[in-house]
Amino acid sequence: MTKSFYLTTPIYYVNDAPHIGHAYTTVAGDVLTRWHRQKGESVWFLTGTDEHGQKVMRTAEENNTAPQAWVDRLVQDAWKPNWQALNIANDDFIRTTEKRHTERVQKFLQSLKDSGHIYAGKYEGPYCVGCEEFKLPGDLIEIDGKKCCPIHSKPIELVNENNWFFKLSAFVEPLLEHYRKNPDACQPESARNEVVSFLEGGVTDLSISRSTFDWGIPVPWDTDQVVYVWFDALLNYATAVGLTDALDSEGGKKFAQTWPADVHLVGKDILRFHAVIWPAMLMAAGLDVPKKVFAHGWLLVGGEKMSKSKLTGIAPKDITDHFGVDAFRYYFLRAIPFGTDGSFSWEDMSARYTSELANDFGNLASRSAAMVEKYCGGVLPAKSNDAGLESALKEAATKADAAICDLDFQGGILAIMDFCKKVNGYVTEKEPWILAKDPANQQILEDVLYNTAESLRALAVLLNAVMPQTCEILWSSLGAQASLGDLGAQKISDVATWGQLPPGATITKTPVLFPRLETNA
Ligand code: ME8
Ligand code: MG
Repeated sequence: MTKSFYLTTPIYYVNDAPHIGHAYTTVAGDVLTRWHRQKGESVWFLTGTDEHGQKVMRTAEENNTAPQAWVDRLVQDAWKPNWQALNIANDDFIRTTEKRHTERVQKFLQSLKDSGHIYAGKYEGPYCVGCEEFKLPGDLIEIDGKKCCPIHSKPIELVNENNWFFKLSAFVEPLLEHYRKNPDACQPESARNEVVSFLEGGVTDLSISRSTFDWGIPVPWDTDQVVYVWFDALLNYATAVGLTDALDSEGGKKFAQTWPADVHLVGKDILRFHAVIWPAMLMAAGLDVPKKVFAHGWLLVGGEKMSKSKLTGIAPKDITDHFGVDAFRYYFLRAIPFGTDGSFSWEDMSARYTSELANDFGNLASRSAAMVEKYCGGVLPAKSNDAGLESALKEAATKADAAICDLDFQGGILAIMDFCKKVNGYVTEKEPWILAKDPANQQILEDVLYNTAESLRALAVLLNAVMPQTCEILWSSLGAQASLGDLGAQKISDVATWGQLPPGATITKTPVLFPRLETNA
């Protein structure tokens, strides 16, 4: 059994509908998993929702709704349709209120208790409901004389409860050793440095239950308490693939095939949970830790993190209605280095849409199809080749593969778009419309048209992970389906092999891939 490439996104709180920050992470995960599928790997892509805890419970209360009804409605009406609209091809969707999750969390917790990693204690200290996090005094900022969470800019609450504690402090040394030995396990480097210095600063044990409200998973041996929402939530990555199931059961086999996760994709707001608490929980249970936690930057509004609680969230639909789904998927990964904060700007997105997508890519596709129609009756001419294009394609494919596998989406997309520019330069230089004026040039003209179409074949394959709908349209316009099969089945490793489009294929004009933007928006 080959191990699957297993990638997860955070499971998002369902206190409100998704905004483009959530979409940013999930689209990145979708692009990376589509790319790995086109590398011929077996892939498992998980996303889902985090439904317990005070934040969700209070929002439900404020809306005079029972928490379960609240989360059911938001998942059904907002979250799932949003991922569908953005063309996210996740293999599974986990909700923390599902039985498969709650039962496995309880089993896992009981086993940590049985092995001596959990003890009774008293927690006294600040808590941010927005983060659902126990804070250290040094984490807080002061606003109007009140101690506040620096992320949510809201006053913290004081918690004073008898709780169950996880012996997190016992894992400081093993974690430091893990990150020293495996620099890849926490990326980018700035994130790893933050985690290492946090660990070096010393870590206290973690309260993992709450007794003052009941919206959560009951602690199996003390049902007056519910499991701390982060302890519950982090486990989703493993419960979704069968954690704690018998080895020879379906769940046990799935677990063997997926665990450890290859990439946990998260925003930098939740880095410590993923790079400190989560691997410690796994170490305590004697399980493998994830191969990589990657913390990307924030989408900012007015210099601050866009967020549901600050009501600065932009709905993906506000952008896709204007620019289309594929331009949305392209823009954020192309414009912001993955790992760095970035601001969304309507102007920048319009400019890139027009120059990179409509002009460089879309026009190339429509010009090529129009010329094959006009000069060759819509039939692809005999094979040809061009050393410059071939070597540019090889270089683009190699660079893009290395960059994308390293989660440098911007570098990967740039390498591909550079090739696209090169093809445009080739067409401009060869001037097929001039060649067409003299029948003596028919052979050269046909060579140019074949080489252009073949370049577009490669662009469809290379851009498919980022813009699947557009590339599918291009694929069908190239008449590639009949001879080469499904676009998604085209391998990255073969993309630079020249001459795959069969002469005689019927080339049809595409609908415009990236229509001119309406200016009144
Ligand atoms: O933290 N810029 O859920 P959450 C970029 N339930 N990414 C952003 C973003 C922004 N402005 N805002 C949100 C939780 N995100 C927990 C996770 S996982 C076991 C539990 C993205 O709804 C980014 O991935 O607050 C961030 O880490 C995540 O949404 C937080 O979503
Ligand atoms: Mg949050």
